[in-house]
Amino acid sequence: MTCQVYFVGGKGGVGKSTTAAALAYRFSKEGKNTLLVSTDPAHNLADLFQQKEKKGQYIPVQNGLTLFELDPDQETVHYINQVKENMKGLVKATMIDEVHRQLDLVSSSPGAQEAAVFERMTTILIEERNKYDAIIFDTAPTGHTIRLLVLPELMGIWMDGLLERRRKVQENYSQLLYDGEVREDPIYEVLQRRKRKFAQVRELLKDSETTHFLFVLNPERLPILETKKAVEQLQSFGMNVKIIVVNKVIPEANLDSFWSKRKEVERAYLDEIKTIFSIKHLCYIPLLSNDIRSLSDIEAYAKYLELPEMLYS
Ligand SMILES: Nc1ncnc2c1ncn2[C@@H]1O[C@H](COP(=O)(O)OP(=O)(O)OP(=O)(O)O)[C@@H](O)[C@H]1O
Ligand SMILES: [Mg+2]
Repeated sequence: MTCQVYFVGGKGGVGKSTTAAALAYRFSKEGKNTLLVSTDPAHNLADLFQQKEKKGQYIPVQNGLTLFELDPDQETVHYINQVKENMKGLVKATMIDEVHRQLDLVSSSPGAQEAAVFERMTTILIEERNKYDAIIFDTAPTGHTIRLLVLPELMGIWMDGLLERRRKVQENYSQLLYDGEVREDPIYEVLQRRKRKFAQVRELLKDSETTHFLFVLNPERLPILETKKAVEQLQSFGMNVKIIVVNKVIPEANLDSFWSKRKEVERAYLDEIKTIFSIKHLCYIPLLSNDIRSLSDIEAYAKYLELPEMLYS
């Protein structure tokens, strides 16, 4: 059975973690060996499953369900150390302290955490695929996630540029120093390896047979706008969002005058959702009377998730 990969995205607070958890719970109940990964810096999945938080580790939760909470700070340290390791032997010994100092500075620069989170996500995608039937990524709010998902595409182009420059430099050196004889270039090798890794992830993300994108939104103005933009952006990079989970829909019954009015406003938004996302599978979940905190809450929530067949392909 090919491992199916699911990304759950959406604006802050709409119910991404709850949906990802419900999906994971459902799959594991169906007998699928399931891995639930959180890439959100402010996540609470361990909480939801009443587990002690152990970031950066695989936590078995119950039969067939494993949790991995990614800690961006921890990943950044790990990532920078890896880069330092790659630099070993490539940089003159007298320069190494300076290079390390620069790398330590990079670790607090914008983008470093994203790169590190991406690195871990990539590793999980490539290395864990053959161990699980389903891998679900609970992602950070939209902007972050989009940047993360389109990274392989952008990095691919960037890597090509880097490789080309490196090749030219090496050629010039060879002409100058070794009578044109081509020497092995370890930096070129490192760049090639990374390029291959990015290409592999790009292929995976675009494979709509095995990779699925679900967006969660609430029937409100901003989540609709943000989701519309995100779906279009992903589409332009060849990633097709097939499912929209409309969460926190006000139930129809027993509404007082305040809630009746709110429901009226909501109806207009629900119509808008139907129009904008007409070709997507829409799945509705009511606003529940309490927060989703326990396993039984997740179970109740999961019952509302009406998923299309294509998710099980
Ligand atoms: N259908 C629902 N009914 C009632 N409460 C809900 C429902 N769905 C989610 N919630 C609650 O809404 C809050 C936000 O949900 P959740 O944490 O899943 O959102 P999120 O999109 O992951 O947020 P963040 O962007 O902060 O990661 C939580 O307290 C959750 O219990
Ligand atoms: Mg969340």
